[in-house]
Amino acid sequence: MARPPRATVTYEAAPNIALVKYWGVRDPDLGIPYNSSLSVTLDRLRSRTTVRFSDDLTSDRVVLNGAEATGGPRAGVVALLDRVRALARSDRYAEVRSDNNFPMASGLASSASGFAALAGASSLAAGLTLSDREVSELARSGSGSACRSIFGGFVEWRAGVRADGSDCFARTLFGPGHWPALVDLVLLVEGAPVKEVRSMDAMQLTVRTSPEYAARLRGLPRRLERIRRAIAARDSAALFPLVMEECDSFRSVCETTRPTLDYLTPTSRAILGEVRSLNREAGRPVAAYTHDAGAHMHVFTLAQDLAGVRRRLARLPGVRSTLALHPGPGGRRLAPRRRSRPARRAR
Ligand code: PMV
Repeated sequence: MARPPRATVTYEAAPNIALVKYWGVRDPDLGIPYNSSLSVTLDRLRSRTTVRFSDDLTSDRVVLNGAEATGGPRAGVVALLDRVRALARSDRYAEVRSDNNFPMASGLASSASGFAALAGASSLAAGLTLSDREVSELARSGSGSACRSIFGGFVEWRAGVRADGSDCFARTLFGPGHWPALVDLVLLVEGAPVKEVRSMDAMQLTVRTSPEYAARLRGLPRRLERIRRAIAARDSAALFPLVMEECDSFRSVCETTRPTLDYLTPTSRAILGEVRSLNREAGRPVAAYTHDAGAHMHVFTLAQDLAGVRRRLARLPGVRSTLALHPGPGGRRLAPRRRSRPARRAR
């Protein structure tokens, strides 16, 4: 059988920050979560991944941020490539190069943008023409939250109820331009530890051992619906307290997991306290904190309040730097780089 032409494809995807957290898997093989989640895909930060399948390679080559990957990170990439090879009925190995413009394994969800970019680049490089929903499902097999980074703006990942996962998928609820005044102030903290336990293992430990997990699950559909409505109405006074309530619930099931999961540093905790003080002093919700399984913090606020909120938080000891981000676009293929001399076309 004739081999399809080789292509080198570069695909870019951004991290997302969850306002309703995914934490717990109902079906590990299909990657179906216990609960639906909702996130914002961010602008400015990105993973950029280039994939090339070739007959000349004798194994997969994975280079992450300029260094040859080994162990767990390499295995995760190879497992996704295996899925792509199965779909494309191909046995070619691949060369993968991926770069992030932000720190990995730090709570800034490099796994989400990384696996989203890998799913996009590898499926296209293998000659597959998948829908965004199918690329998102592929990304999900690498890291659950990655399925949301294929889409831009405010994204919902529906858990669904069917056993075969056919009603489990992510989609944009509101595009990146829906709420221009909403800002995510990212606070990078000093001394953020590198994750010891993979999120997938950590969340299943929570499912098994946290006495609060069942109650959290029961309350989530209502909270997600209220958050969705507050975003639809661009109502920060309604949204901000709900975002913090959800973050507190997530942190609480982590902390009551045995052995406990503690992702925060003293600086992260000081940020939680300072946001509460800011809201108390203003007499209205001017900001909302949230964090994923890491020590860096995300503080949502409105453009009009950004300068004041940033001044107060940036001066806390241990805050290394701040970044003001907005909802951004979903994953996309980058145009191939032009060669200096155009290749001749066959007539
Ligand atoms: O996608 P994973 O396996 O890295 O899990 C991510 C889980 C959280 O970031 C804590 C929550 C979320 O919904 O993104």
